[in-house]
Amino acid sequence: MSLANEPSAATIAAFDLRQLPAEFYVDPFPFYRALRDREPVKRLPDGSYLLTRYADCEFVYKHPALFSSDKRREYRPKYGDSPLYEHHTTSLVFNDPPLHTRVRRLINGALTPKAIAEMQPGLEALVDRLLDRMATTPSVDLIEDFAAAIPIEIIGNLLGVPSAEREPLRGWSLAILRALEPVVTPIAAERGNRAVRDFIAYLETLVEARRRKPGDPDRDVLTRLIQGEEQGERLTAPELLHNCIFLLNAGHETTTNLIGNGLVALHRHPEQLERLVADPGLIRSAVEEVLRYESSNQLGNRITTQDVEVGGVAMAAQTQITIAIGAANRDPEKFADPERFDIGRMPNRHLAFGSGIHQCAGMGLARLEGAIAIAKFVERYPRFRLSGEPVRGGRARFRGFLKVPCRVDP
Ligand code: HEM
Repeated sequence: MSLANEPSAATIAAFDLRQLPAEFYVDPFPFYRALRDREPVKRLPDGSYLLTRYADCEFVYKHPALFSSDKRREYRPKYGDSPLYEHHTTSLVFNDPPLHTRVRRLINGALTPKAIAEMQPGLEALVDRLLDRMATTPSVDLIEDFAAAIPIEIIGNLLGVPSAEREPLRGWSLAILRALEPVVTPIAAERGNRAVRDFIAYLETLVEARRRKPGDPDRDVLTRLIQGEEQGERLTAPELLHNCIFLLNAGHETTTNLIGNGLVALHRHPEQLERLVADPGLIRSAVEEVLRYESSNQLGNRITTQDVEVGGVAMAAQTQITIAIGAANRDPEKFADPERFDIGRMPNRHLAFGSGIHQCAGMGLARLEGAIAIAKFVERYPRFRLSGEPVRGGRARFRGFLKVPCRVDP
């Protein structure tokens, strides 16, 4: 990206997450760069702050007692008394200890390195099946026919959702996540609320069936969440249902975008694609670079619990903060030549999975999915080419594509 695309000083002075220019959705990075250079702790018109420096973002993540994840204050005016409000304020990611700790422990127990390693053969077989299918119809959509089809199966297995019942999950998930954008239109709120209601109704049946016939708690997250910890407190019914929804959502849109963003980035950087094809052992660092360069989750939020200083700026208690993960991950103070896509980059301590007590509980699984999907795809179709302009999701928080038309002729 040339400096000619750099937003002007006036654009940065007036920058507002609630009124983003169209170019931001296409390419937010020139904005992030200019913000980091000019006003790295940017006060927005609603009194909140936007952080774009790596060190400030990491500081906030690492001090959960100063920067709370509890979203009740922020989401009450945004969602009113609604299913979306109940959902987002009950899931572990938007809570502080002790609820956060209880749910996190239960989820972690089913996402151990051993449990993840056991998923590998099934994951490889699934990816092979999808790649075989493409060979018969070489004009494909990389998102629908590949990237989105993988996490939905994996996370569906994790919660034991029967295969025939997985179809509506992606639509529900997208509707709920869409409502997390900085501005929620009435239609988006309506769709999000309906999705939470439908999702809950579905999960109630699933939970009932699992209570009658429990699965293996070492592998089945739903059984773990139902049974709770030995001698520990159990989750209440709403806590159980909303955290299942969160897990299904967290594990699925972000990973779809990791795979989709990765394949498009490789296509746009043919020398890096060639490098990966020639040396498949680079896949692990390639996945880390995709996570850094095109972070699927671009924004995170916290609220200050007391008066505090961030990056030299004093903030009062109850100040809302947006952590710009995508900006932190291109901070030249942390990454050499940060605008360069380099699949061999080392070290690469990006913040794509956050950091601290809320750091992504599914990152081991996401990394495995990304590595197997991307490695097998480029091995099988090294000359894949895009057959139309990829369509961006048009969101600020979750960065990914809705459609990527592609030809995979041998
Ligand atoms: C590329 C894929 C993924 C990305 C980029 C991603 C990103 C993130 C980020 C940034 C957070 C921290 C949020 C915060 O602190 O405010 C997070 C939390 C979380 N993620 Fe992921 N995630 C991915 C995949 C997954 C998968 C596959 C699962 C489940 C199997 C998952 C489950 C979770 C859970 C449970 C949390 C909440 C952790 C907590 O609050 O303690 N994620 N994720």
